[in-house]
Amino acid sequence: MKTMKTVRKIIHHRYVVVLAAVIALTSLSLAAPGKQARGGRDAWQQPERVVADLGLQNGSTIADIGCGSGYFTFRLSKAVGEKGKVFATEISAKGLKSVADRAKKGDITNIETVKSDPTRTKLARHSVDAAVIANVLHHVNKEHRIPLVKDIAEAIKPGGSFYIIDWRLKATIKHDISRRIPRADLVRLAERAGLKLDAEFFYLEHQVYLRFNKPAAKPAEK
Ligand SMILES: C[S@@+](CC[C@H](N)C(=O)[O-])C[C@H]1O[C@@H](n2cnc3c(N)ncnc32)[C@H](O)[C@@H]1O
Repeated sequence: MKTMKTVRKIIHHRYVVVLAAVIALTSLSLAAPGKQARGGRDAWQQPERVVADLGLQNGSTIADIGCGSGYFTFRLSKAVGEKGKVFATEISAKGLKSVADRAKKGDITNIETVKSDPTRTKLARHSVDAAVIANVLHHVNKEHRIPLVKDIAEAIKPGGSFYIIDWRLKATIKHDISRRIPRADLVRLAERAGLKLDAEFFYLEHQVYLRFNKPAAKPAEK
């Protein structure tokens, strides 16, 4: 009898050990670095929601200022459709090349890359319905920020929109801590370029997301 009890105990013990191992392995695989890395930025950046809030139409024209390797560019390209256009601007030739190569590979024809200077986008006056500058302004030298934003404002059509996405001062993510720009300074930058804050989105965990309007041109006085 005693032996039977012992055998049952051993089987039960083994069952518990195997169950614990399965649970541990499952949670380890869910937290695998590869999976986290892939889901990493999208989880806090919410790119699809951000792009949806840009209010783009099929056929809109938008500038992605400081496009980097195109994180937003290709999503914008989808949002504006074949009749629309995305001007992807960058000071880095490497970033532009990777966007151009990827567009070519994917047969995407509505993205135009633009090699910019630090204070000049090289976009034509009143050429875009909207412009977005995401995760860029804190990289721009302080003395270049006002002329750059003025140049961007010049490229936006009257009545169009300008969007700034940049770190919150207190973002818990460990990036660019010493370069972060206070929200009030971001607003002032756009206001100095003649733009008016007209909306703010609060759902991004680490970033402020501001929308500005470029006032429509006043009718000429008679
Ligand atoms: C952190 S990356 C952000 C890229 C992209 N917007 C994104 O959200 O993934 C910052 C980019 O801004 C670019 N940049 C810095 N100063 C710039 C300027 N004055 N005009 C245009 N791009 C600039 C850098 O070359 C870099 O590729």
